[in-house]
Amino acid sequence: MASYVLPVLLLLCVAASASASPGLSPRFYARSCPGALDTIRIAVEEAVRNEPRMGASLLRLHFHDCFVQGCDASVLLNDTATFTGEQSAAPNVASIRGFAVIDNIKARVEAICRQTVSCADILALAARDSVVALGGPSWTVPLGRRDSTTASLSLANSDLPAPSFDVANLTAAFAAKNLSVTDMVALSGGHTIGDSQCLNFRDRIYNETNNIDAAFATSLKSICPRSTSSGNSSLAPLDVATPTAFDNKYYGNLLAKKGLLHSDQVLVNARGGVGGLVRRYAGSPARFGKDFGAAMVRMGNVSPLTGSQGQIRLICSRVN
Ligand code: HEM
Repeated sequence: MASYVLPVLLLLCVAASASASPGLSPRFYARSCPGALDTIRIAVEEAVRNEPRMGASLLRLHFHDCFVQGCDASVLLNDTATFTGEQSAAPNVASIRGFAVIDNIKARVEAICRQTVSCADILALAARDSVVALGGPSWTVPLGRRDSTTASLSLANSDLPAPSFDVANLTAAFAAKNLSVTDMVALSGGHTIGDSQCLNFRDRIYNETNNIDAAFATSLKSICPRSTSSGNSSLAPLDVATPTAFDNKYYGNLLAKKGLLHSDQVLVNARGGVGGLVRRYAGSPARFGKDFGAAMVRMGNVSPLTGSQGQIRLICSRVN
């Protein structure tokens, strides 16, 4: 009998470590920088008060970090004469924003604890604090990520999902990061805040006559002309109902055929439980909030650098 105990215990340990954070801990800075989390939260609250959209931009920065060579702040690295980073990749160029806010947060954190808190952890915390500042759910953020010394333009082009994607492509893009269909549908709810440029929803409003509310399409056409020679960067809210509140209205919009992006609207009619998840989240803010927080933790666990890997950058936009 006793001979079974050790293998069973080992198996349990393996199973537990497979689902736990890969070496990350919420108390990582409890001794080394106890003021870090409050400093970051206060700076995010200020930035969001100044401009509510900034909460959306900070949430997206963490997503675009984690999907490209893991949550290692690679997205923050600027191009130099000898180095090309991720910011000019198609999903990022003239689109991702929030760098000045991250630089400001990093400077405040450096002022209290020198070279202790990574830029990758700042992105993870700023994403959570942004969602909370806009009225959304909270979750505990595992910490201890370190910053990369490299970035990848080609991975930014290949690994970030595109707004033209159908459910199969979306599912594959999330599965490639070990994220489930439930994670994908819950994380898509990040589009309850923030804006999209016309060039990302033009095809949808002019060519998808069946799967879009007619009045919704008409109103968008006034800011997003059919011709690609103008209006490309005009903005529309991703959540037409409550653009700056982090709530579950995004899913209600999808049920009403008022999703802004093709990749949003396709979730409704998909098989394999995807459409069911949309209906479940539309019907329950609590269920959405819980699943969104859990999915954010899983996204934040994608291939972090830990231990002595990488470095703690002094300035987030460049390697030391
Ligand atoms: C499911 C696949 C996804 C696709 C295809 C996608 C695509 C896009 C596109 C095209 C935009 C507009 C960019 C622009 O026009 O400049 C956008 C904005 C945004 N995305 Fe996503 N996204 C996806 C998933 C996510 C996830 C997982 C999150 C976070 C959890 C997220 C958060 C946001 C936010 C908050 C904005 C607004 C940013 C701002 O206003 O600055 N997206 N996304």
